[in-house]
Order: sequence, then structure tokens, then C-alpha cells
Amino acid sequence: MKVAVVYESTRGRTKAMAEAICEGASSAGAECAVVDAKEFSGFDDICGIALGSSTRMKKTLPMVKRILSELPPLNGLAAAAFGSYGWSGEAPDEIAVKLSEAGGSLIEENPIKAKDYPSDSILEQCRALGGKLAEKCSK
Ligand SMILES: Cc1cc2nc3c(=O)[nH]c(=O)nc-3n(C[C@H](O)[C@H](O)[C@H](O)COP(=O)(O)O)c2cc1C
Repeated sequence: MKVAVVYESTRGRTKAMAEAICEGASSAGAECAVVDAKEFSGFDDICGIALGSSTRMKKTLPMVKRILSELPPLNGLAAAAFGSYGWSGEAPDEIAVKLSEAGGSLIEENPIKAKDYPSDSILEQCRALGGKLAEKCSK
């Protein structure tokens, strides 16, 4: 069982957040995979998921959008949303709503959002989120 950190990113900013989340999960002792959304193959063997996208034209990027449209029942799976944005940042909110509607158990009340490139403090929040996902996986 592993933590999956799935992302879609145009300029690497959301990807940097994904890498920090996995770093946190790995440091906390979980197996963790950073997965490009176009390579995501499903929820088998996953004990926690963080799903992230930047916002483009007020929307979630298409590969993450597709994952959201095909979500299976998540049955309380530990879940979190994240993403970089420029000015409005709708994508992480949409992801959080869809994960929750599918039965995911959101481990943060609010998604982690980074305006432009994630700052050190946001990257620290990302690592902490990874740690919390790892903790859920160990139970
Ligand atoms: C064509 C285009 C449309 C965008 N539309 C939005 C938008 O509607 N709202 C927003 O908050 N940011 C918007 N952005 C900004 C990106 O979300 C921002 O640059 C983000 O940091 C990109 O992260 P990424 O490298 O992970 O893709 C847009 C950027 C581009 C190039």
C-alpha cells in the first residue's frame, strides 16, 4: 500500500508541490509515488491520495478532470487536494469537492494552494501534508 501523489502541471509548479508532498510521506516512512496524471492507472494498492492541478481559464487541467470524472467510490480513503494558481485558483477547490463527494476523507479542511511557484513555507505545508497521509496509511 502506498501514498499516491498525482498531479498535472504546465510549468512545474504543481509538480514541485507534488514532489514535496511525497518527500514528506517518504520521510514519515510511507512508500510514495509521484504520478503524472496522464500515467495514473487507478486506486488499487493506494492507502492515501493527494491530487493536484493548476488552474487554467478557471478550470482544472484535463487529465485531472478526467480522473475526477471517473472516480470510484473512495470509501473513506485519506485524500487531499493541491495546486498552483495565478489569480483565482478554482482547481484545488474543485478537486477537494469531487474527492469528498466520492467518499474520500479529506485530511485538510482547505486544499494547499500556491500562488505561482510554491514558496518555502508552502513547500513545508506540502511536506507536512505528506506526513499526515503517511500516518493514515500506517493505520
Ligand atoms: C492560459 C492560462 C490561463 C490561466 N488561467 C488561470 C485562471 O483562470 N486562474 C488562475 O488562478 N490562474 C490561471 N493561470 C495561472 C496558472 O494557474 C499559474 O501560472 C500556475 O502557477 C501554473 O502552475 P503549473 O506550473 O503547475 O501548471 C493561467 C495560466 C495560463 C498560461
